[in-house]
Amino acid sequence: MNSRFERTGPIDELSSYPAWAQDMVDSCADAKREVVEHELFALMREAQLSTESTASFMTGVWPVIERFPAYMSASLMKTRYGRSEGDNMARRWLVRNIRVEQNHAEYWLDWAEGAGVSRDKVLNGWVPTDAMVLANWCEEVSTGDGLAAGIIATNYAVEGATGEWSQRVYEGAAYRESMPTPQALRWLKLHAAYDDEHPWEALEIVCALVGNNPVPQQVAHLRECVRRSYTSMRIVIDRCLAASRYGMDILREVAA
Ligand SMILES: [Fe+2]
Repeated sequence: MNSRFERTGPIDELSSYPAWAQDMVDSCADAKREVVEHELFALMREAQLSTESTASFMTGVWPVIERFPAYMSASLMKTRYGRSEGDNMARRWLVRNIRVEQNHAEYWLDWAEGAGVSRDKVLNGWVPTDAMVLANWCEEVSTGDGLAAGIIATNYAVEGATGEWSQRVYEGAAYRESMPTPQALRWLKLHAAYDDEHPWEALEIVCALVGNNPVPQQVAHLRECVRRSYTSMRIVIDRCLAASRYGMDILREVAA
């Protein structure tokens, strides 16, 4: 049975959400940690990431950055005003936040340029198939799955883990000092904001959509979506790091 969820506690405390959501978050923590604590970010934070891996990262993650508002508009297409409070919340939130995402692609290009990767390389560079795993997954879940699944996979999982790795990198004084202009740090600074409530807001919307007691299959599906987002992120980052570790010719070309 679907009992309605209405948050009473603080938005950024897990205890404010239904038991199923708390369990889901806990059971995905290991997969999230593999992203947030990835070696690539540890190296980046110390300004030690190789030129090849930096280029691979900027070009490999770009498709998701560029498409992110489009994933959100695919979710928006699934909402129907008046169908439920969850639909209304999702619609309002997506309309507002697609606009917020507007400049983020430009800021990413500024970051890449500051890190020595030209706009042309990011816009037209070759992206290895492995690095497309995350973009393809986000596209698939946003267009082909339900509203709750799309939002939890992208706005909760991808944005949430991104906020945490951004914080780790931004905290590195060595990295901040390695950037030539404040403009080059804008994307990172925005995504590292400690008060960023977007992933929590996304979780709240998902809970409003599915209620306090969704059937176990639905919970299992949402959990799989979250894990798949984290796993896809890790595959992309692994691949970017491998760009210098294995020094494959074709990846060298991307970085050249
Ligand atoms: Fe963004």
